[in-house]
Amino acid sequence: MFESRAAVFTDAGHPVSIETLALDVPQPGEVLVRMTSSGVCHSDLHVRDGHWERPGPIVLGHEGAGIVEAVGEGINPELIGRPVALTWYAPCLTCRNCQLGRQWICTGSPALGHAMTDGTTRLTRPDGSPVLSYLSIGTMASRQVVPAAAVVPLPDGVPPEVAALIGCGVSTGVGAVIKTAAVPAGATVAVIGLGGVGLSCVMGAKIAGASRIIVVDVNRQKIELAGELGATHWVHAAKDDPKGVVDGIRAAAGNGGPDFVFEAIGLPETISQAVAALPPGGTACLVGLTRYGQSASFEAFPFVDGGRRIIGSNYGSAVAAVDFPRYAEMYLQGRLPIEKLIDRRLDLAELEDAFDRLRAGQAARQMVVFED
Ligand SMILES: NC(=O)c1ccc[n+]([C@@H]2O[C@H](COP(=O)([O-])OP(=O)(O)OC[C@H]3O[C@@H](n4cnc5c(N)ncnc54)[C@H](O)[C@@H]3O)[C@@H](O)[C@H]2O)c1
Ligand SMILES: [Zn+2]
Ligand SMILES: [Zn+2]
Repeated sequence: MFESRAAVFTDAGHPVSIETLALDVPQPGEVLVRMTSSGVCHSDLHVRDGHWERPGPIVLGHEGAGIVEAVGEGINPELIGRPVALTWYAPCLTCRNCQLGRQWICTGSPALGHAMTDGTTRLTRPDGSPVLSYLSIGTMASRQVVPAAAVVPLPDGVPPEVAALIGCGVSTGVGAVIKTAAVPAGATVAVIGLGGVGLSCVMGAKIAGASRIIVVDVNRQKIELAGELGATHWVHAAKDDPKGVVDGIRAAAGNGGPDFVFEAIGLPETISQAVAALPPGGTACLVGLTRYGQSASFEAFPFVDGGRRIIGSNYGSAVAAVDFPRYAEMYLQGRLPIEKLIDRRLDLAELEDAFDRLRAGQAARQMVVFED
């Protein structure tokens, strides 16, 4: 039996509590990870604020990295001591989508139940009651047991924070551009919303060889940071002027609008802006996730008449075992300056403050650091 200090979500809209939980040893097919870093992604905040219903108590966090400390039966013991990134969507490898090579939309992932593959959890409170793990990995914990399919070893030399960011924001944003939308060299790209996900879309557009990269945010500091990552044009969004945003994107792109627009916020109004900014033949790639039950609208006639397209991108179409090491390699070569996304390091106890900053749109990526 181990101990784990973890951020536990119990009720929507209420602060998380920092608790010391008991952590059982890994069962067959499971891996025990000592966490080194966990990013604070807006998806955790969606859960914390009740935008997406999740069962509590549950340990939050899904963008994490650590060192393997122990393995269950059937797992290669050589993994022990290896630094790993965690995928928040451990694939089942047997459902139809996995067999089609589309692990990012697996329908049998243990992540759907926020538990191990057998539906149980290794975490308990002192009274013996079980605690779930968000997306089966609950990375805001000093130690975790996770399904082996969630663990991806990375090449030497990748700092823990970079590994953690590859686990969500980077794979989601870079992958949306180079995998889901497969932006060709020379295309024009706009990115609406510059959090960890949108800034990763900007890095992806640079790698893809986009000729213009237009960035949009309400926060000028985010626009400046995007400039360091490769943005060539910018539009400062005024929340009460949606048409101004659309006109600004079109003017900056030339040729009637950008070939691709990436929406990385998850608001109905910015989704509508993404579609409205497209020229004939353009593609809107939706990456931001709304609250449950929300719809977005667009004018139907010009959409069809102009042969425009909308695509949804989950996890940047990531096949973690293949793509995580690739992104890590690109980081090591200096082609993905992932460390620039980090604007704050914090202890778990400061998580609510980090959520406040994220809610106000003030944070790029804030990283929980685990000392052991
Ligand atoms: N599709 C996926 O697989 C996937 C994976 C991870 C995260 N997400 C989602 O992506 C979204 C972004 O995540 P994040 O962590 O980068 O969030 P974030 O909160 O860090 O970033 C959002 C950005 O949007 C800006 N913004 C807010 N309102 C705006 C407006 N009206 N116009 C222009 N800019 C505005 C904010 O200033 C901020 O910079 C979230 O909805 C998250 O849940 C999706
Ligand atoms: Zn995330
Ligand atoms: Zn599957």
